[in-house]
Amino acid sequence: KYDAVIFDLDGVITDTARYHYLAWMRLASTQGVHFDEEFNEQLKGIDRMGSLERILMAATRQYSLAEKLALAEEKNAQYVALIANMTPDDLLPGAVRALDSCRAAGMKVGLASVSKNAFTVLDKLGIADKFDYVVDAAKLARGKPDPEIFLNAASVLDVAPSRCLGVEDAVAGVASIKAAGMTAVGIGDPAVLAQADFVIPALTRFDLNDY
Ligand code: BG6
Ligand code: MG
Repeated sequence: KYDAVIFDLDGVITDTARYHYLAWMRLASTQGVHFDEEFNEQLKGIDRMGSLERILMAATRQYSLAEKLALAEEKNAQYVALIANMTPDDLLPGAVRALDSCRAAGMKVGLASVSKNAFTVLDKLGIADKFDYVVDAAKLARGKPDPEIFLNAASVLDVAPSRCLGVEDAVAGVASIKAAGMTAVGIGDPAVLAQADFVIPALTRFDLNDY
């Protein structure tokens, strides 16, 4: 049914969603903004500046562009420090098996993360060679929920969007997959990922025969 499977990275293949959360939490507290898991849920899959804008919207003052860029840099430095010691042990259970099952079924495998740290994380996890194509987030004009990132992956993999399966943990990511005209497998809570075609709790349950 499908010719390609396009995976998100943070929160799907590895638990970096936790590190993004911790880094944003620290930044929010320095700006006097209340930040919790619920706020964080809305930031999943959203690019760096977009996430910062949402946090600063809850602050009591206005920020200049220079200040915003400095804060984004600060958050990224924190995040980079958090991922520095990652190893293949940080792969989420089922991730390698899921990636390998796609390749074994003759499908192309893509990675669609809006993170500019995605290449670093893949290297640390030791799985860069498991992908036929990794989108370079630096080259995107629009982040998720815009379909651009998934459409870019499909086009480089040379597969029609209707023949692609997208795998995502974020509400914005599932919206991006659906807007691209693909089938979405959500990882997480079915109540949160209501727009997904299928929802599983983790990649340990990923089974191509089910979709
Ligand atoms: C996404 C994460 O994958 O990447 C977001 O879900 C994060 O939480 C975004 O903000 C951008 O990442 P980075 O590494 O470019 O700041
Ligand atoms: Mg994610």
